[in-house]
Amino acid sequence: MRNREMYAEPYRIKMIEPIKIRDRETREKLIVDAGYNVFNLKAEDVYIDLLTDSGTTAMSANQWAGMMLGDESYAGCRNFFNLQDALKDIMGYQYVVPTHQGRAAENILMSMFVGEGQRVIGNMHFDTTEGHIRMRKAFPVNLVIDEGLDTASDHPFKGNINLEALEEELKNSTPAELPLVIITVTCNSNGGQPVAMDNIRAASSLAKKYKRPLFIDAARYAENCYFIKQRDPHYSNHSVKDIAREMFSYADGCTMSSKKDALVNIGGFLAFRDNEEWYERAVQIQICYEGFRTYGGLAGRDLEALARGLHEGTEEDYLEDRIGQVHYLGRLLTAEGIPIVLPVGGHGVFIDALQFLPHIPQSKLPGQTLAVELYRAGGIRAIELGTCAFGYIDQATGQEVYPQQELVRLAIPRRVYSDRHMRYVADTLIEIGRHKEAIKGMKIIYQTELMRHFTARFALL
Ligand code: F0G
Repeated sequence: MRNREMYAEPYRIKMIEPIKIRDRETREKLIVDAGYNVFNLKAEDVYIDLLTDSGTTAMSANQWAGMMLGDESYAGCRNFFNLQDALKDIMGYQYVVPTHQGRAAENILMSMFVGEGQRVIGNMHFDTTEGHIRMRKAFPVNLVIDEGLDTASDHPFKGNINLEALEEELKNSTPAELPLVIITVTCNSNGGQPVAMDNIRAASSLAKKYKRPLFIDAARYAENCYFIKQRDPHYSNHSVKDIAREMFSYADGCTMSSKKDALVNIGGFLAFRDNEEWYERAVQIQICYEGFRTYGGLAGRDLEALARGLHEGTEEDYLEDRIGQVHYLGRLLTAEGIPIVLPVGGHGVFIDALQFLPHIPQSKLPGQTLAVELYRAGGIRAIELGTCAFGYIDQATGQEVYPQQELVRLAIPRRVYSDRHMRYVADTLIEIGRHKEAIKGMKIIYQTELMRHFTARFALL
């Protein structure tokens, strides 16, 4: 990677959106009113919002100009064909089924392939993917390599799927038992870690050998391709677009949340390489849930911004700046000894809350406590990915089951914040670190059975 100190952002700012920081006393009150759940805060009460990199992108002048060319015809709008062309160019895929966002594409895919009692294999399925599998009384199976779950490992491709385990699963099952393999690039659930080209190629041959379809969850595909260029010497002279084309050639299709690497605020799609029969089946479901085949729940203008964003998302100066900024924040934190997941992934920095607040046991929710502290100390919003998000109460024993990791994600929106914002985030964390002994942990006082981190309420200990 080029030295970030040697150059600046590959864009300048045409329009600004004011943000305000509430004073400490106001923040203390607002977070109490929110039940100590940052999802309940009003966005305007947040100074730097790192809740997600999804749908939070700043679009370019080119995308906004494209919005004015939205063709709002019910059927056959020109923007759909521009989207189709973008997919052929970048992914080499013939058929695209637009959807209102990524999980809607997952819904169509799972409706087509997955039924009760089946297993769906992946490196690590994202939450909504798991949700769609479980809703069909099927079982999500995650086969990420061991290094992928080891925060101390510096493996360059921690999103890789364990190929031996994959072959075991495929060999010992029929297509009726295991209908589908999904590889998520980058792997969000372990920190935005990339998947190697070799790994995707090998997974693809296994899927072919045992006659199962392989799909890519492409939400952050461009970031994944950029990592391949950086970390696999074989690809250092290839363009990101060429890498993408090769990567997608190994799969039968993909789902995509366009709210990430396609640089738009809403949208998604399901795509197929060349299987017309699958495409026509998908369209049946799309029409019921999303809309006619050429708009799928999106306005013509949204389709245009998406078509243009797909191209911009593969531009290498953009990717260098984007991933460079995430890594810049990572360096600021490691320089101060703040424990984060290494190597830093593509879309955010993940703090290891158990190490950062070692005096707070997992039962006292160190991740949620740190997320709350970030808001109290600096007006920053981050998301807990630990006990609240992934822990649950075992119905048989009534006991809390704790996840392996207790992380807080600082997801960085694309093209939105400056390096000075990153510096401020780092300074806030350093300041929290200085007074951390005074932080006591939290407990849950209200929760729902499913997806509790969106709705739970907490009390300070
Ligand atoms: N797949 C991955 C890898 C994701 O990260 C997400 C969303 C989805 C699918 C679902 O897409 O939101 O458009 O329906 N991730 C967001 C996040 C919500 O914050 O990481 P969607």
